[in-house]
Amino acid sequence: MGQEPVGEIHHDRSGIVFRPGLEGVPVTQSAICDIDGLQGSLTYRGYPVEDLAAHSTFLETTYLLIWGDLPSPRQLRDFEAEVQMHRRVSFRVRDMMKCFPATGHPMDALQSSAASLGLFYSRRAIDNPKYVYEAVVRLIAKIPTMVAAFKLIRKGQDPIQPRDDLAYSANFLYMLTEREPDPLAARIFDRCLILHAEHSLNASTFSARVTASTLTDPYAVVASAVGTLAGPLHGGANEDVLAMLEEIGSPERAGEYLDEAIASKRKIMGFGHREYRVKDPRAVILQGLAEELFARFGKDEMYDVARALEHEAAERLGPKGIYPNVDFYSGLVYRKLGIPRDLFTPVFAISRVAGWLAHWREQLGANRIFRPSQIYTGAQARNWIPGEDRPPSAGA
Ligand code: SDX
Repeated sequence: MGQEPVGEIHHDRSGIVFRPGLEGVPVTQSAICDIDGLQGSLTYRGYPVEDLAAHSTFLETTYLLIWGDLPSPRQLRDFEAEVQMHRRVSFRVRDMMKCFPATGHPMDALQSSAASLGLFYSRRAIDNPKYVYEAVVRLIAKIPTMVAAFKLIRKGQDPIQPRDDLAYSANFLYMLTEREPDPLAARIFDRCLILHAEHSLNASTFSARVTASTLTDPYAVVASAVGTLAGPLHGGANEDVLAMLEEIGSPERAGEYLDEAIASKRKIMGFGHREYRVKDPRAVILQGLAEELFARFGKDEMYDVARALEHEAAERLGPKGIYPNVDFYSGLVYRKLGIPRDLFTPVFAISRVAGWLAHWREQLGANRIFRPSQIYTGAQARNWIPGEDRPPSAGA
């Protein structure tokens, strides 16, 4: 989909052609996830995401992504127990979060607090499998606690401590909403985490691999990836989709909104994908989860607007291979689960930590520091000009 650069120079000195955004350029070999963008299929370590979303749990899928195989019941119980033991976060991190501005975006709070974990576990023994296992457990366990904590801290409240009697997803919703969730809501949230856990070399996972390739600690790797996921073209789109649906307001206005957006070359949030030329298979499942929630807890009136927009977009954008992606229906699910809108992307991050850590481990297994080339388009050699002889710069 990317455009060849304008102008006659489009390869570097060794003749390698420039590809904006590395579109279509393989930069690593990976056994973690496979996507068929034409068929609309997604597999984690060979397992179709539909099967995992139906039969697995997020922690079992996390184990699969990171260590390559589904765990035995004993291995899963041990992993779940370890994660449960490490859910709590040091009072130092909580006190640090109390100094964050209440109006700050939760993704910035998460990036800062994730990076701060490196201060507590700074031993960078990344060649020691025990250190790697402990880092995986800590990050999978503590990221949800930090996301939920900031939601309360920014309101001047004390964060809610994790409950050891609740499973992973139920515990997160409890820490967030201060109420024990309905079992169906917890199960649907856990399935959302499975769907968002991994997606090959998306921008934030690429960030994770580049950061990992310098052999820094896994907390810096995750902090780097969180910062990348926050952008509206990546994980930040789920927040914007709801705002777009509310702006459209009614199903009848969907076509008019689309025509105006397309005419003004505005991107439709929640649509399009670098890999998929059909509806994102995750969007298909998320739409089903939304309908399951609505049947039980009442419908979100924005759902009809979303369906109308998808229908109208099929005619206008479908021929260009632009269909709903993972972010299109996820916001409607999260809103029905009581998750505040500006926490939609942090929830995406809670899940994607599994994928980032899987790629971190894989990168360490066959590491070469990322250092691509460039095509220099700047000024040729210039002579020094003393300050008093210089014309004003066009810069600032
Ligand atoms: C995620 O990579 C991943 O796997 C990401 C992700 C994951 O799990 O990690 O799947 C999660 O990031 C999902 C995407 C969330 N972002 C959005 O919903 C924002 C809106 N989508 C677009 O910004 C866009 O579709 C991207 C960024 C997702 C993909 O962009 P590409 O592949 O770089 O495509 P492009 O911007 O080069 O567009 C190519 C053409 C252009 O038209 P022309 O100039 O060729 O005529 O398609 C058009 C674009 O204008 N186009 C869109 C569009 N997306 C692409 N037109 C309208 N609305 C859109 N959403």
